[in-house]
Amino acid sequence: MKTKSKVAIIGLGKIGQAVAANLAKSNRTFIAADRNVAKAKELAAKWGASAQPGDIATAVKEADILILSIPFGAIGDFLQQNATALEGKIIVDPSNPIAPDEKGGFKKIIDAEKSAGQINATFLPKNAKLAKALGTLGAGSLATAAYQKPEEATLFYATDDKTIDSQIEELIADNGFAAVRVGGLNQSIRLEVFGDLHEFGALGKTVTASEAKAKI
Ligand SMILES: NC(=O)c1ccc[n+]([C@@H]2O[C@H](COP(=O)([O-])OP(=O)(O)OC[C@H]3O[C@@H](n4cnc5c(N)ncnc54)[C@H](OP(=O)(O)O)[C@@H]3O)[C@@H](O)[C@H]2O)c1
Repeated sequence: MKTKSKVAIIGLGKIGQAVAANLAKSNRTFIAADRNVAKAKELAAKWGASAQPGDIATAVKEADILILSIPFGAIGDFLQQNATALEGKIIVDPSNPIAPDEKGGFKKIIDAEKSAGQINATFLPKNAKLAKALGTLGAGSLATAAYQKPEEATLFYATDDKTIDSQIEELIADNGFAAVRVGGLNQSIRLEVFGDLHEFGALGKTVTASEAKAKI
């Protein structure tokens, strides 16, 4: 059996924890990393043998695929600060460029026509590959719609590098979802909050792969 790429989840907040629980359900091993290592250890105990708790520096060094489940505003700095260790690695970006507004909702914090995916791509370390993925559902649906039956729910993804499609699709499958490729990173805006393929955008709900294919 082919060995799967080593995954690390960086940042164990709402999205990081949902992804970790999904991967544990698939018995996919992963490094659970947080800047608070005690928190990583405590959570990893809950996820069982699949989870290896660790600090961020170790995760960056050991993993092939890094899921950056940290705020959009922290990703550029993270990529630049870890540029050498991240050379040639796969970076998964679920981020949404949003912040709370004054009305109890959210507002976009970059220009309307720009996307977090394309901005984050400008900070990519040498030979690293970026996939916009694991971000098209809210954390609630990422947990509750995983492993849905009879037809799985969809997670859309986009990347400029087709050589990583199979690894991203395997990662999405190991989260209990059907992967649907939308295109290159110039499609990122569609996968972010307010986009037409986001749960909190025009899509408005989870969709199955057959429904999803009609939308792209
Ligand atoms: N929540 C959603 O429904 C949802 C849906 C789709 C995509 N996303 C995206 O997923 C990402 C994570 O969102 P979330 O809701 O999971 O956020 P969250 O619950 O606030 O968790 C964020 C995590 O990132 C860590 N963090 C913050 N700044 C950091 C830094 N500079 N370096 C390292 N770690 C840092 C936090 O650590 P501390 O606890 O120490 O601050 C926390 O563990 C965001 O980019 C968000 O836009 C969220």
